[in-house]
Amino acid sequence: MKLLLVLVFLISLNPSSLVTAFDTTPATTSVPCSANSTGFNNVCYRAVNTSANWTNAAIDCINQGGNLVSVSSDSVNSFLVNLTEQQFGTSTRFWIGGSSSISDNSSWAWIDGNNMNYTNWAIGRPRNISAYDSLEMHTPSGKWYDTPGEAILPYVCEVPPAGATNPCYDNWSYYAPANKCYRVITKKNTFKNQQSNCYSFGGDLVSIHSSGENFFVGAIATKALNYTSQEVFIGLRFNDFDNWIWVDGTSLNWVPNNFTDVDYSGYSGLLETWPTKSKFLWDYDYTSSIHPAICESDPSFMKKEKK
Ligand SMILES: *[C@@H]1O[C@H](CO)[C@@H](O)[C@H](O)[C@H]1NC(C)=O
Ligand SMILES: *[C@@H]1O[C@H](CO)[C@@H](O)[C@H](O)[C@H]1NC(C)=O
Ligand SMILES: *[C@@H]1O[C@H](CO)[C@@H](O)[C@H](O)[C@H]1NC(C)=O
Ligand SMILES: *[C@@H]1O[C@H](CO)[C@@H](O)[C@H](O)[C@H]1NC(C)=O
Ligand SMILES: *[C@@H]1O[C@H](CO)[C@@H](O)[C@H](O)[C@H]1NC(C)=O
Ligand SMILES: *[C@@H]1O[C@H](CO)[C@@H](O)[C@H](O)[C@H]1NC(C)=O
Ligand SMILES: *[C@@H]1O[C@H](CO)[C@@H](O)[C@H](O)[C@H]1NC(C)=O
Ligand SMILES: *[C@@H]1O[C@H](CO)[C@@H](O)[C@H](O)[C@H]1NC(C)=O
Ligand SMILES: *[C@@H]1O[C@H](CO)[C@@H](O)[C@H](O)[C@H]1NC(C)=O
Ligand SMILES: *[C@@H]1O[C@H](CO)[C@@H](O)[C@H](O)[C@H]1NC(C)=O
Repeated sequence: MKLLLVLVFLISLNPSSLVTAFDTTPATTSVPCSANSTGFNNVCYRAVNTSANWTNAAIDCINQGGNLVSVSSDSVNSFLVNLTEQQFGTSTRFWIGGSSSISDNSSWAWIDGNNMNYTNWAIGRPRNISAYDSLEMHTPSGKWYDTPGEAILPYVCEVPPAGATNPCYDNWSYYAPANKCYRVITKKNTFKNQQSNCYSFGGDLVSIHSSGENFFVGAIATKALNYTSQEVFIGLRFNDFDNWIWVDGTSLNWVPNNFTDVDYSGYSGLLETWPTKSKFLWDYDYTSSIHPAICESDPSFMKKEKK
C-alpha cells in the first residue's frame, strides 16, 4: 500500500502525465509559465507587442530561450487568436515561426524544427513567390498569409516555463532539438587556434545538421557580434582526401547553399552572420585566415562537470 502511494505520487509529478490529465480542458495552464507568458497544452507563449521584421523577431525569441511560435493544431491556432486579440487588440497581423527561406529546398518549415503537418492557409496562399518567404497570422480569422520578411509586425514566442534551467554552462546556449550547447568566440583567430579554444572549453568547432540548428547558431552568433555582418568559423574543413568534412566526425548531411562540390584545398567553412535574408549561408576561406568562431558541446558532459 505504501509503495502504491509512492507510485501514485511519482506519477503525479511526471510532467507527461500532467499533459494527459489536462488534455480535455484546452485552456488550462499545465506548466508554470513566467510573467507575461501563458500556458497552453504544456507550452508557454509570450505575445511580444514590439514590432520587428521576421528575422529580428525570430532572433529575439531565441534570445528569450525560445523560438518564434509553431502551430501544430486547430486548438493551438485558436489559442493564438485569443491570446493576440487580448494583447494586440482585434484585427491584427503578427509573425509566427514559418519560413520558406530557412529550408534548403524553399519549402515551408517551422523555425523550431517541428514538422509542418498542420496548416491553415488563407485561400490562394501560399503564392510560392520567393520574396514572400515568411508566415503571418491574421485575427480574428486565424488564417495564414505568406509575406515578405521585411514587414514589421508584432510576434508570438514559445518561451521556457518558469524555473527552467539551462542544461549548459553559463555563456553557452542550449538548442533542445539537437540537444547541444553552443558558445561564440568573438575574438578572431585561425581555424586551428579556434578549434584549440573550443577544446579548452570542453567542446569542438560546431557541426550543423538542419535549417533549425543553422538558424539558431546564426542567431546567437549575430547577437554576440552585436548585429554586425561577419563570417564565423564553423567546424567544416576540406580534408586531405578531397572531401568537406565536419571536424567532430558527424556526417555532412545538410547544407544551406551549394558550395561544397568544388575543390577548395586548404579551405575551411564559415557561416555568414546578420544576413538580409534568414538563411545564414556558408562560405569558405583559408584555414590560416582569422575569424570569430562557434563551439559546440554536449550538455551531459557539462552536467557532469558542473558537479
Ligand atoms: C511584463 O509586462 C510588463 C508590462 O508591459 C513589463 O513591465 C514587465 O517587464 C514584463 N515582464 C517580463 C518578464 O517580460
Ligand atoms: C478562444 O476564445 C473563444 C471565444 O471566447 C472560445 O470559445 C475558445 O474556446 C477559445 N479557444 C481557446 C483554444 O482558448
Ligand atoms: C499593443 O500595441 C497596440 C498598438 O500600438 C496598442 O493599441 C495596444 O494597447 C498594445 N497592447 C499592450 C498590451 O501593450
Ligand atoms: C523538401 O520539400 C518537401 C515538401 O515540398 C519536404 O517534404 C522535404 O522534406 C523537403 N526536403 C528537405 C531536404 O528539406
Ligand atoms: C506532427 O509533427 C509533430 C512535431 O514534429 C509531431 O509531434 C506529430 O506527431 C506530428 N503529427 C502527425 C499527425 O504527423
Ligand atoms: C505552392 O507550393 C505548395 C508546396 O510546394 C503547393 O502545395 C501549392 O499548391 C503551391 N501553390 C501554388 C499557388 O502554386
Ligand atoms: C531586418 O532588420 C534588420 C535591421 O534591424 C536588417 O538589417 C535586415 O536586413 C532586416 N531583414 C529583413 C529580412 O528585412
Ligand atoms: C560568462 O561571461 C561573463 C561575462 O562575459 C564572465 O564574467 C563570466 O566569467 C563567464 N562565465 C563563465 C563560466 O565562463
Ligand atoms: C558588443 O557591444 C558591447 C556593448 O557595447 C561590447 O561590450 C562588446 O565588446 C561588443 N562585442 C563585440 C564582439 O563587438
Ligand atoms: C550543386 O551544384 C552542382 C554544380 O554546380 C550541381 O550539379 C548540383 O546539382 C547542385 N546541388 C544542389 C543540391 O543544388
